[in-house]
Formats: sequence, C-alpha cells, structure tokens
Amino acid sequence: MANRIAEEKIEQIRQTVDIVEVIGDFVQLKKQGRNYFGLCPFHGENSPSFSVSPDKQIFHCFGCGAGGNVFTFLMELEGISFQEAAIKLASKVNIDLDIQFASMPNEKKISKELQAFHDAHELLRKFYHHLLVNTNEGQHALEYLLGRGFTKESIQKFQIGYSLNSWDFVYKFLTKRDFSPEWMEKAGLIIKREKDGTYFDRFRDRIMFPIFDRQGNTIAFSGRTMGDDTPKYLNSPETAIFNKSKILYNYHQAKPTIKKLQTAVLFEGFADVIAADRAGVENGIATMGTALTDEHIALLRQSAGSVTICYDSDNAGIEAAFRAGNHLLEAGFQIKVAVMPDGLDPDEYIKQHGSERFRNEVIGASLTWMAFKFLYFRRGKNLQNEGDRLSYIEQIIKEISKLTKAVERDHYLRQLAGEFSLSLDALRDQQKQIYFAEKRKDNRNVHSNNKPIIIPKQSVDLKPAFHTAERCLIAHMLKSRDVAYKVQDSLQGSTFNVDEHQAIMTYLLGFYEEHLQPDSSAFLSYIQDDNLRRMVANIEMMSINDELSDQELSDYLKQVLNHKKLLKIKEKEAELKEAERQSDFSKAAAIGIEIYQLRKSL
Ligand code: UTP
Ligand code: MN
Repeated sequence: MANRIAEEKIEQIRQTVDIVEVIGDFVQLKKQGRNYFGLCPFHGENSPSFSVSPDKQIFHCFGCGAGGNVFTFLMELEGISFQEAAIKLASKVNIDLDIQFASMPNEKKISKELQAFHDAHELLRKFYHHLLVNTNEGQHALEYLLGRGFTKESIQKFQIGYSLNSWDFVYKFLTKRDFSPEWMEKAGLIIKREKDGTYFDRFRDRIMFPIFDRQGNTIAFSGRTMGDDTPKYLNSPETAIFNKSKILYNYHQAKPTIKKLQTAVLFEGFADVIAADRAGVENGIATMGTALTDEHIALLRQSAGSVTICYDSDNAGIEAAFRAGNHLLEAGFQIKVAVMPDGLDPDEYIKQHGSERFRNEVIGASLTWMAFKFLYFRRGKNLQNEGDRLSYIEQIIKEISKLTKAVERDHYLRQLAGEFSLSLDALRDQQKQIYFAEKRKDNRNVHSNNKPIIIPKQSVDLKPAFHTAERCLIAHMLKSRDVAYKVQDSLQGSTFNVDEHQAIMTYLLGFYEEHLQPDSSAFLSYIQDDNLRRMVANIEMMSINDELSDQELSDYLKQVLNHKKLLKIKEKEAELKEAERQSDFSKAAAIGIEIYQLRKSL
C-alpha cells in the first residue's frame, strides 16, 4: 500500500490517546482500584466483567475473552480496519496524518467482491428513490405512501424507493454497468433460475426500503408489496454484507439522538420507526422482523442504558414485548413499555391520533416494567372469577418479590391491595413467604438469575499448576525486559508446555529485540494473532507482585519443567508395562531406573 500511515504517527497516536477516554464514549466505566470496569460492549451481560487498564492502555473482558488496545477496540466495535481506527483516533487528538484522501483505506481493505456488493446497493438505492419521487412509473407507489401518511421529508430521509414491475430491469441495469451476475446473485439482488441458469430481479413492483449499516452504507433492501402478495415485506437474503441478527433498522441515523437521550425506542416494524420519526421521536430503531439478539443488544449498549419498547398492541406484540423486555433486562437495561389502545400499531396510532398524542400519551406515558407486567399477566384472565383472580394476585406477588428495592415492593403491594381491596399486611406476609420459597429454589439452582455483581475470578484457578505458573511467568516477562531474558535463559532450551504460551513468549522476545522498554499496548499491536492477543490481554490483567523474586522464579520454573518430566514419566511407565508384558525383563529394569531418576529430579 502506497499511502500507509507512518509508523511514528501510529506511535504518536498510541502515546497521545487515552484508552479510558475512548472506551468511555461507548461504555460507562467505573474506577475500582487501578482499573476501570463496565459492561462489555462485545457481549450481553449484566454484571461488569469488562476491564480497562489506564496504566497499560489495554482492555480485557473476563466474560467473553475480548481484549486488546485502543486500536483493536475500535476495530472490533465498529467493524473497521486498523487504518480507519488510526484515522479516527488521530482526529480525536488532532494529529495530522499527512495522508491523501484518495488513499482512504476502507476501499482498499475490503475485497473487490464486497466493494461491488456495496456499489450495486448504493446505485440501486439512488435509482429506486429516483423512480419513486420523479417518474411516472413510480407515481402510484408515491401515492400509496402519501396516502399512508408518509411525508416527502421522511421519504427523503429514509431514502425510500420503488422497484419497477419488471423481471429483468435490475439485471440489465447492473450488467450494463459491468457488475457480474454471479456476484449480484450472491448480493441478493437477482435470482438464478434453476432450469436455464438465467437471472431475474428479486424485487419487482414493491416499495423499497434501503437497509443501512452503522456507517450508512446500503447493505440490503426490504420491499413492501402494495397489494396482497406474500410476503408483505420481502427482504434481501443474508449475504456477506447483510446479517439480520446484527442490524437494527435506522441505527445509523438514530444513534446521536439515542446517545443524547441515553435511551432508544424499540419498534417492531420499520413503518413504525419512520412514522415515529415523523412524529418527532428520532431515537427509534427496529429489528428486521426477528427477535432481539445478543448482538443487537451489544450494539444498543454502546449508546444507551435504557430502552422503551413500543410494539404493536395486539397479542403477538405484547408477547414479543415481554420477551424482548426480559432479554434487555437480563442485559442490564432499564426498560419501559409504551402501550397503545385498541390493538393499534404505532404507525396506525400516529395516523389516527397525531404526533403530539403519540409523544405525550404513548411514549411519554410509558409504563415501568413492573406496571407492564401487571397488564401482561392479566390478559386472558377473568378477574371477576375468584380462581383467576387469586392466581393473578399470586403471579404478581411473585414478580414483586423479584424487586430489589423495598420502596418499590411496598409501592406495588399497595397498588395491588388497593385494586382488590385486600389487606396490605396479608399481602406483605404472602410476599415474604413467596420470596423465601423462591430463594430456596434459587439456592438449589446452580444458575441463579440474581447473581451478585462481582468481578468474575479467572477460571485459571481450575487449571493445572504448570499452566498458572506459565501465565505468571509471562505476566512478569510482559512487565520487564530483563525478566523476559532471564526466563528464557533459565528454561535452558526447554519450552512452555502450552503452545500458545510458547508462541506468546516468542512474540515477546521478538518485540524486545526492537523495543527496549515493555509497552503493553504496543505489544498487543505487534501480535498478529487474535486469539493470542486476547490471551495476552487476559494475562496482563492478572494481579502479580511488582518484582519477581528469585524464589518465585525458581518455583514457577520448577512447575513448568516438572510437568514435562511428569509427562515423560507417564510415557516411560507405559513402556515399562509393555516391556513386562513381553517379558523383556532387562529392558524393563532399564526403564525402571530411568523412571526412578526422573522421579528423583522432580
Ligand atoms: P408488521 O406486519 O407489523 O408490519 O411487521 P408493519 O410494520 O405494520 O408494516 P405495514 O404498516 O403493514 O407496512 C413488522 C416487521 O416484520 C418484518 C418487517 O421487518 C416489518 O417491519 N416483516 C413483516 C417481514 O420481514 N416480512 C413480512 O412479510 C412481514
Ligand atoms: Mn403497520
């Protein structure tokens, strides 16, 4: 690559940028001892196992194993290349990189094929949009949208379009521009006919909703029929650039508002997102018709701590809201639920009742999670009927028992007492009973849901002694160049037992050839292998003494070398058995001596 960022510049960025500040933009960090802790942005969790070390300028998650320095953090989180991460960081701390715009690396980095996928989507998005807003062919589609309450502004903002009623328009449009049909089929834009290998357009005579990734690239489409065809919404298939379980509709446009308000509004469909946006609710997002995944949640975590769920108010919608809420709750989010009357969906509500009422009476009046559960468990029950009523009350008390704040428990118990004219004392008694009954169940249950918030201890404790010894040695070698060479000498040509540990040592000695001082962050960039990098980040986070005493060093070395001998002994013992089986007693005796000597040297 001609215009690589100079090594000194990278070094300068590394020296200037503070990892705590960078990660702090995405994760709420709390200081604890020397390090900072927070909820990991790479996996869903509700107790913080993600740690950042300001001294070492590295991060590590004890939960999912993610780890690295400030560059790898941005690369993994935003799905960008090293150079893009460097450019972002440089601009954050005002370092001029002296590189030409023409050499912006993102185009270089991704393959020709992926680039073609992107380009084709980009072209089609523009073309579909043009057809909708400027042409006779798109007139009826435009009228359909305006009739449904879409405005010109939102058609523009969401780049809505129209696909022609043709079997081969897109095919011709793309091949004329030198896009290979094989690739365009892989991109999901055209479909191959089994019988003769010819192609036809996937989307025909539909309203086209482009789907954008986090950077605002068009990566897929969803086409809505204007008639009664099925499916109602036809989506692009999963492709190399489109993965439904990672994409939240409108996330790229909503992100600044989500960050500002620290909350997102989750809808079921994108018609709802667009209607809500028109009504002034600009932090709306939706999944692509799938349930909320851990990846979606990790993405949301980057910008919000709370979510308002605003699903359709039909039965399916309420069930889906309950599931999504529980999932988000487990991941540590604050939840509210916005409910609408009469089985409406948000889009229909806004059309019928207007923007202001949607903002005030739906979003503004969202229920707490507990209040939503009051409604949720009520469905399908006839509370006039005593049996139904009692089971409902018990269900609710169970839910109240899960609340950790006494004030909240009291509040909802009172509400329940008031509604059913029950004695508050009796309810309190029953609530305590249920609480202790559930607790006993929980204690028997290994996977209790109410885990205390503690930093998980590393599973290393369960590993064999030599394993831990090798990690401790590496931890010290990472801290001191002298120790690194000392350990190498002391091993006397022998190696670590764990291959990865040996690989890390090899990298580290290579690193020290070029660097006279240890530098955790720089070393993580030096390692090319993701898996090893994570391991190193994990080892860096071990707490060890500042100095490695000679006694400690020899203890560790003994563990490492003894393990080899133990393996050797096992091997010899098998040989011994074999010799005895063959009645080769002189051989057996010789092996016996070897074993004895090995044992003695332990
Ligand atoms: P809905 O059926 O609730 O659609 O599907 P909607 O949002 O009310 O849309 P309109 O008002 O009828 O136009 C919700 C979401 O489920 C996915 C889409 O992502 C849609 O936004 N879906 C629905 C599909 O993927 N395919 C379908 O056939 C239907
Ligand atoms: Mn709808």
